[in-house]
Amino acid sequence: MSGKPIVRSVHSDDEPLLESPATFRGRLRARWHRADRTARVVSVLFALMMCAVVVVRVAMEAMSPRDGWPGPPTTIPPDAEEGVKDDSARRDAVRDAMRHAWSGYRQHAFGKDELLPVSNSSNTKWGGWGVTLIDSLDTLHIMGLNEEFREAVTHVVGVDFKKAKAGYTTPFFEMIIRSLGGLLSAYEMSLDRRLLDKAREVGDALLPAFKTETGIPYPRVDVNTGKAVPADRVCIAEAGTVQLEYWKLSELTGNPVYHNTAQRVVDILDTASKPYKGLYPIWIDIRSGKLVSGQITFGGMGDSWYEYMLKQYIYSRRSEDQYRRMYEESIDGMRDKMVRHSVYDTGMYYVGDLDSTATKFSPRFQHLTCFVPGMLALGSRVLDRPDDLELAKQLTYTCFQMYNRTSTRLSPEYVQFRDASDKGIAPSQENTTDFEIVSLAAAKSKEREDGFYLGPNRSYILRPETVESLMILYRITGDATYKDWGWQIFCAIERWTKTPAAYSAYGDVMSTDGGSQLTDSMESFFLAETLKYLYLLFSPADYYSLDEYVFNTEAHPFKIMRTPPP
Ligand SMILES: *[C@@H]1O[C@H](CO)[C@@H](O)[C@H](O)[C@H]1NC(C)=O
Ligand SMILES: *[C@@H]1O[C@H](CO)[C@@H](O)[C@H](O)[C@H]1NC(C)=O
Ligand SMILES: *[C@@H]1O[C@H](CO)[C@@H](O)[C@H](O)[C@H]1NC(C)=O
Ligand SMILES: *[C@@H]1O[C@H](CO)[C@@H](O)[C@H](O)[C@H]1NC(C)=O
Repeated sequence: MSGKPIVRSVHSDDEPLLESPATFRGRLRARWHRADRTARVVSVLFALMMCAVVVVRVAMEAMSPRDGWPGPPTTIPPDAEEGVKDDSARRDAVRDAMRHAWSGYRQHAFGKDELLPVSNSSNTKWGGWGVTLIDSLDTLHIMGLNEEFREAVTHVVGVDFKKAKAGYTTPFFEMIIRSLGGLLSAYEMSLDRRLLDKAREVGDALLPAFKTETGIPYPRVDVNTGKAVPADRVCIAEAGTVQLEYWKLSELTGNPVYHNTAQRVVDILDTASKPYKGLYPIWIDIRSGKLVSGQITFGGMGDSWYEYMLKQYIYSRRSEDQYRRMYEESIDGMRDKMVRHSVYDTGMYYVGDLDSTATKFSPRFQHLTCFVPGMLALGSRVLDRPDDLELAKQLTYTCFQMYNRTSTRLSPEYVQFRDASDKGIAPSQENTTDFEIVSLAAAKSKEREDGFYLGPNRSYILRPETVESLMILYRITGDATYKDWGWQIFCAIERWTKTPAAYSAYGDVMSTDGGSQLTDSMESFFLAETLKYLYLLFSPADYYSLDEYVFNTEAHPFKIMRTPPP
C-alpha cells in the first residue's frame, strides 16, 4: 500500500531505485472488550507499570539537542522474550500506541493530512481532507476507542470531497485505498449512513479518472474541475487496486456502475499480452491498454495488483473464477521466475524483481514485498495450495530477519542478496524500464552472516507489510512464534520511533543515534495498517476473522459479500 510514490507500491516513494516519474507520490470489538472488569483493571495496571518503567528509563538517558525530547535509549533493545508474553497486555500496549499517535494528531494536526511528529506541525499534502483521520477511523473502532471514533466521524461528515485546495490533483489510487476504503469500512462497522454518503462522494469525485479511450484510468484527478489529468501511462498497482473498493461501494449503494467501471481494467489486463504467463510489467499504456514496459515486481508499483486478484475472489465468495485463474497464474509465474534463496547458508528465500522481458533477475527484496507471505498463506487456504504456505513461512522468516539483523531491529526499505555469479542486477537509476548490472564488493563477513546486505536507503518509514504477514501467518498456522516476532517489532517501533507527540519515520536503521534519526514524518498507513495489524495479531482469531472479512490494501476490513453476485 500501498502515495507512496507508488503503491503498496505506492507505499514506496522517493526510493531512487524504484522511482518512477515524479507523478508518483509525490502506496474483532469482540469478547475481550467485554472481559470481566478485574482482568481489564489488571491489564491496565500492568500497562501503566510498563509505561512507568519506560518513562524512568527514558528520563535517565542523556538529553539530546532536540527540545524536550531526550531521544530513545542508545542500547540494543531487549528481546521480546524478555518482555511481555501475555496477549492481552501486548494488545493493550498496541492500543496505547494508537492512543498516543492519535492524541498527538488530534492536538496538533486535527483534520489535516499528516502530523509531523517531531516538530508538531502538520501538512495538507494529500489534498487537505484529513487522510490520517479517515485512515484511522476503523482502527479506532476496532480498538474500542469510541469517543475518539465519534469525534472523528463528526469531523469527516463535514468534509467536502468535491472540493480540493486550488491546483491540487488527487492521486486516484491513494485516495481510493485510503479514503474510500476507510469510509466504507467505518460505515460497515458503525452503520452511520453519513459515512456511506461520504464514501459515495469520494467514489463519484474520482470516477472521471476512467474517462479514457480504453477505460484504463488516469493516475490523477482534479476534483475541482471534475476532470482527470491526462497521462500516457499508469502502473498496474494504481489501475488495479481500486476494484475491491468500487465493488463494495456498488454492493452498499446498489449501483453497479462503480464495479463495472473498475472491472474493465481487470478484463483488459487479463487478455493483454505478457512476457511470461501471469507476470505483468508495471506500466500500462492508457491509450492502447497494452502492458508496455517496466519491471515485473511484487514490490512497489506491482504489489497490490496481484493481491487484489485473490482478494476479489475471496470477496466474491469464491464465485468469480476469473480472479482465481489470474491469481494462480501469477503465483505460478512468480514461483517459476522470481523466488530465490540466499547463496549463503542462511535458509532465506526471497522474491526478487525482473526486467520487463522476464529474463533478467534483480536480487533485491523490498519491504513492500513482505505482504507476499500473507497473501500466499491466505491463498493457500482458500485455494488449497499447501506449497504456497511453505513458501509463505520461508518468506516470513526472511522478512523478520530484515528487522532482526539491524542495530535497531527495524527493517530498511529493502535488502540486496548476492546472486550466484556474484553480480547484482539493479533497476537503472534513471529508467525503471532498464536494469543494469552492478558488480558487488567482495562479500564481507557480516554479509555472509546476514545473508544479505543493505542498500543505500536504510530508512524505516513505519511500514506495515511484515506485521500484516505475521498476523495472517499466525491466524493460519496457529504458531505463536509469529506473535513473538510481531512483539519484538512493536518493541523496536516503541523504542526508536516514538516522539512526545506520536511516532516518526527513522532515517537509518543501522544507527542507534536515536532522536537525530527521526525524520519528522508519519504516514497515515502507520495508524491504518501497522498498528491495526499488530492489534489483531494479539487478538483472538475470530475478531475480524479472515473467514468473514477481506482487508483492502490499506488494511480496511470489508465484509465478504453476503450472497455471491448473480
Ligand atoms: C528512502 O526511502 C523512503 C521511502 O521510500 C523515502 O521516503 C526516503 O526519501 C528515501 N531516502 C533516501 C535517502 O533516498
Ligand atoms: C534474532 O537475533 C538474535 C541475536 O541478535 C538471535 O539470537 C535470534 O536467534 C534471532 N532470531 C531469529 C528468529 O533468527
Ligand atoms: C528508458 O528506456 C527506454 C526503453 O529501453 C528508452 O527508449 C529510453 O530512452 C530510456 N530513457 C532514459 C532516460 O534512459
Ligand atoms: C510536541 O507536543 C508534545 C505533546 O503532544 C509535547 O510534549 C512536545 O514537547 C512538543 N514538541 C515540540 C517540539 O513542541
